[in-house]
Amino acid sequence: MDLMEKLSETKAYIESKLDGRKPVIGLILGSGLGEMADAIENAAIIDYHDIPYFPVSTVPGHKGRLVIGELEGKTVLCMQGRFHYYEGYSMDEVVYPIRTMKVLGINALFLTNAAGCVNTSWKPGDLMIITDHIKLIAENPLRGRNPEELGNRFFDMTRAYDKTLVSMTEKAAEDLGIGIRKGIYMLFTGPSFETAAEVRFARLAGADAVGMSTVPEAIAASHMRMNTMGISCLTNMAAGILDQPLNHEEVLETGERVKRTFSALVRECVKRWPEEKL
Ligand code: HPA
Repeated sequence: MDLMEKLSETKAYIESKLDGRKPVIGLILGSGLGEMADAIENAAIIDYHDIPYFPVSTVPGHKGRLVIGELEGKTVLCMQGRFHYYEGYSMDEVVYPIRTMKVLGINALFLTNAAGCVNTSWKPGDLMIITDHIKLIAENPLRGRNPEELGNRFFDMTRAYDKTLVSMTEKAAEDLGIGIRKGIYMLFTGPSFETAAEVRFARLAGADAVGMSTVPEAIAASHMRMNTMGISCLTNMAAGILDQPLNHEEVLETGERVKRTFSALVRECVKRWPEEKL
């Protein structure tokens, strides 16, 4: 079946649960931020496995659902749980929810994630606005026949992370008294963490953070000319910087430690998101 036909079925199903409400911001909650969805009011909750053509989770116990409702006075469509390439999904599957957002009429995308800190002047727990990314791997969600209905074959990436939204987030952080970094996110496929040499390479290449998500989503969003913003929670120093092995527990612990600050910032950004970027 054709992508647009699938998307229109997906859209119809989701709309049937919304009582005419129109979400304006798509929000993806990364590791540690999932609880923020509880703050969404009058929420319609839809499990991914009930949504036609949504990728099917292969991970046991994997919590994946859309939470659609009001946050800070705006109607948001929130993904509680995203699809990662390392889980075995194709790039098409990874970005299917972003395309769903677009056909639902959403033009604003707010991406969050947990990432390893490559910049040695920073520390775990710092929050970083993503100003640009580096995709080293060859895979690209737009490889193959171009879905013309969604965007052009060749498309600009210089505005993948919207500059107005970056400034807005900086200002929001400042007003809330939250320290904020700005930097470059580099995608590795995972699920292995990077080697120490790969992290040195990432730093030489200009990266400030490394992670296993977000980039495919930002590419698909650019293709569809959505206004995108991304924030990374730097949960750990990337491999080889400290003389200790990396583990997922540290990622979770730091996520837990900063989740209140991170949530406060995300909410403030939703509140301030300018009309012309919706
Ligand atoms: N590397 C890749 N992804 C990550 C890391 C890391 O160090 N920390 C959290 N997500």
